[in-house]
Amino acid sequence: MTDITKLMRSHLVKVNTYHGVDPSEELARSAGIRPEDVIRLNANENPYGAPDAVKTALRNLDVHLYPDPEQRRLRARLAEYTGQPIERVMAGAGGDEIIDLLFRLFTEPGQSLIDCEPTFGMYAFCARVAGAKIIMVPRQDDWSIDIDRVLGVIDPDTRLIFLASPNNPTGNLLSEEEARALLDTGLILTVDETYYEFCGKTLCHLLDEYENLVVLRSFSKWAGIAGLRVGYCIASETMIGHLMDIKQPYNINAAAEAAAIAALENHEEVLERARVLIEQRKRLESTLDGLDGVSYYPSEGNFLLCRFEGRTARDVYEGLGRHGIFVRLFEKDRLEDSLRISAGTPEQTDRVIEAITEVLSSPG
Ligand SMILES: Cc1ncc(COP(=O)(O)O)c(C=O)c1O
Repeated sequence: MTDITKLMRSHLVKVNTYHGVDPSEELARSAGIRPEDVIRLNANENPYGAPDAVKTALRNLDVHLYPDPEQRRLRARLAEYTGQPIERVMAGAGGDEIIDLLFRLFTEPGQSLIDCEPTFGMYAFCARVAGAKIIMVPRQDDWSIDIDRVLGVIDPDTRLIFLASPNNPTGNLLSEEEARALLDTGLILTVDETYYEFCGKTLCHLLDEYENLVVLRSFSKWAGIAGLRVGYCIASETMIGHLMDIKQPYNINAAAEAAAIAALENHEEVLERARVLIEQRKRLESTLDGLDGVSYYPSEGNFLLCRFEGRTARDVYEGLGRHGIFVRLFEKDRLEDSLRISAGTPEQTDRVIEAITEVLSSPG
């Protein structure tokens, strides 16, 4: 038998993989409950699901033809929605695909990414797959970026910096001043605005000044179509041209394309649901304000990073799990004592409030 590992790229033989969220059936099995009783608040998804217009578009789909490799209709809608020229936008199979494409475009093995933990794990994962080096510059105690340290670690091999704004899981924004300081280095800065629709704050206006800026967005969180995998980026015409050249020709499948267009055509209605989710996050914050043993970080996203004292995060996680509520447990480094709870519908929030109050008032 051939040992295929001898033929593999050596850095991929043992790769520290990315573990995505388990399907609801698995969560239900682990808790001994029915899948329909699972309240899934562990991936910042939109619990309202796809809007009706998207469901209609999916029903009327022609699937025997390849989708448009130039993404003309979708890019035209994205241009309208973002107020940017069509030459400055490109869609990907989730923001994840665009992160991967940026590594393909900008890094050779051995070149590096600056990563500021805690943050979204996909940046480091794509770096590992690309064989890029990861230079870790931890965030400060208030989760802001340590700009001086970032500027201090840049060397001739550094290529990319990814910063989520709002950051997942900490919820804080990157300021324009910080972004400018990083863009002035000439490196490729991706400002990941996956949660833009929940805060309305963007650094897109810097695109007129900086060819090295990429703004990344997603349809997974606000538009309720995480399962269809659509994200997009806004960048200079030159950058988009190169990304278009290296992407898979049919990266946006026909269902994803139709759904994203329908979501954009009905964005006011979709955004209304995003507003309800933010109200629910605020309701949860008010409840936590009145409970002992828990605090939270101010969040600009559809999630809340909560920190527990007097009991472990796992203890609270399991307590919520007994109520069928699944949140994000980290159990590592500076998030050892923390859980991230996604904003839910008003009914789900009622259940979370009841469960967390009960868990925190029982002996630790
Ligand atoms: C900060 C951030 N960026 C990107 C993504 C990826 O989103 P998508 O579903 O569009 O791949 C996520 C998903 O959790 C995220 O939190």
